[in-house]
Order: sequence, then structure tokens, then C-alpha cells
Amino acid sequence: MKFLSFLKKKEISGGSNPPLRHIAFIMDGNGRWANARGLPREMGHKAGAEAFRRVVDYCIDLDIRFVTVYAFSTENWKRPQSEVDGIMKLFVDFLNEGLLGDKDKKLRIRFLGDPARFSPEIQSLMSEITEKTKDFTYTLNVAINYGGRDDILHAVNTLIKEGKTEVTEEDISSHLYTLSCPDPDLIVRTGGEWRLSNFLTWQSTYSELYFMKTLWPDMTKKDVDEAISFFVSRQRRFGDIKSK
Ligand code: FPP
Repeated sequence: MKFLSFLKKKEISGGSNPPLRHIAFIMDGNGRWANARGLPREMGHKAGAEAFRRVVDYCIDLDIRFVTVYAFSTENWKRPQSEVDGIMKLFVDFLNEGLLGDKDKKLRIRFLGDPARFSPEIQSLMSEITEKTKDFTYTLNVAINYGGRDDILHAVNTLIKEGKTEVTEEDISSHLYTLSCPDPDLIVRTGGEWRLSNFLTWQSTYSELYFMKTLWPDMTKKDVDEAISFFVSRQRRFGDIKSK
């Protein structure tokens, strides 16, 4: 395997055809990582938050303009309260402390999902960050209280409220939580499961999918390289007979 750290950025963002503009991650395997070490699951999520930082940092180095992470699904509320509290604490730390120090000045942060489930304090921190970072170059979408079906329902209900009686694909796409983001070119799932689990349901129709056994807290730059190498090797036809 040829590792991309040694390749020029342009081979990733301009060399594949079309370029990798948007990469999305299903960060799975935190619980198993903790279990394997005899630690509480919350420690797995803490290590997962570190991996989140590493991976986003590396994606910026690779000049990938849109990164989306699946941090918490609409179904994850069913988990034990202590685990939910642990993840929410990590979320609040992220909201208060940022992610990458100085590099945060490059990150436009947006949240995918219904914010209404969070406390008014958390909701105002979320909108403050979105507003404060809105002109930055690289977009980080944090999917939190997110579900792909909920995303579509929310878009359709918004369109109904706007008075539409018939909708187009463009109408739906432009009312999803991802707004003007291009659809993900590549979705990477760690943790060895081969499914999308209600992630970016509308947006993923032509995404390349890469499933890896690595547990999310163990995710390294080399693993990101491996996923991108897979992407670069794909021929993307979008239903046509020729590559795009
Ligand atoms: C799935 O692994 C992971 C989650 C449900 C939480 C992901 C959260 C983080 C990576 C850190 C927090 C970051 C923010 C911004 C809140 P799992 O628990 O299902 O793992 P398992 O399949 O091994 O049990």
C-alpha cells in the first residue's frame, strides 16, 4: 500500500476523478475498544474524541474541504444514561474548547440534526459556533442527534411549511441539514460493521463506501490513507457507462 502522506495533496484533491471533496466517517468501535481494555465505555468515547481530533486535523492537512462525522444518532439516546452523559460531556468540551487550537481558525463548524433535543445553553453554544466560524475555509459537519430519515422528514416538513405541494430533488437537497455541502464522495466506517446505520441516507446514493476493522479510537493517519487509496482507485460512473 502506497501511503498518501507521501503523496502531494493535489493527488487527493485533484488527482482522483472527480476529486475527493467530502469525506464522512462513522466513528464506530469506541465501546469495544474500551471493553478490550477492561475500561468503562465512556473511556472508549474519550479516546474516540482524540481520534476525531487527529483525523480532522489530518484531513485539513490533506486539503479535504468537507469532513462529516457521525457523533450521535437519533437512536443513540436509547443507550444507558451514564454513557449518553459521557458523550454529551465530550460534546460540551468540544463546544467550549474547540478542536484543533490555532487550526480552528480554518474550520467552519456546522451541526447536522435537530438541536431541539439539547438544553438551551448547548443550543446557543452551537449557534454561536456556527455563526462565528461561518466564513472559514474547511467545513466540519458534526452529526449529533442525527438520523438520515429524520433529515429527509425535516426537509419535507420544512418545504410543506413553506407552502410547497410538489417538490424536486433540488428542493429536498437544499433543505437537508447538510445544506450546500456536496454529497459525500467517500464514507468510511470503522469497527467492522458493513452498514450505514441511518447516516446521510439521501446524500449517500453515489458515495464510495469503505468499511474497515480498525476500532475508531485506534484510527491513525495511515488508516485514513488506506481509505483514500481505496477511493482513488475507484471508477465513479454515477449511473453512466463512463467514469466521471
Ligand atoms: C459508536 O461506537 C460511537 C458513538 C455512538 C459515539 C461517538 C463519539 C465520539 C467519537 C466522541 C465524541 C465526539 C463528539 C463531538 C461528541 P460504539 O459505542 O457503538 O462502539 P461499539 O460498537 O464498539 O460498542
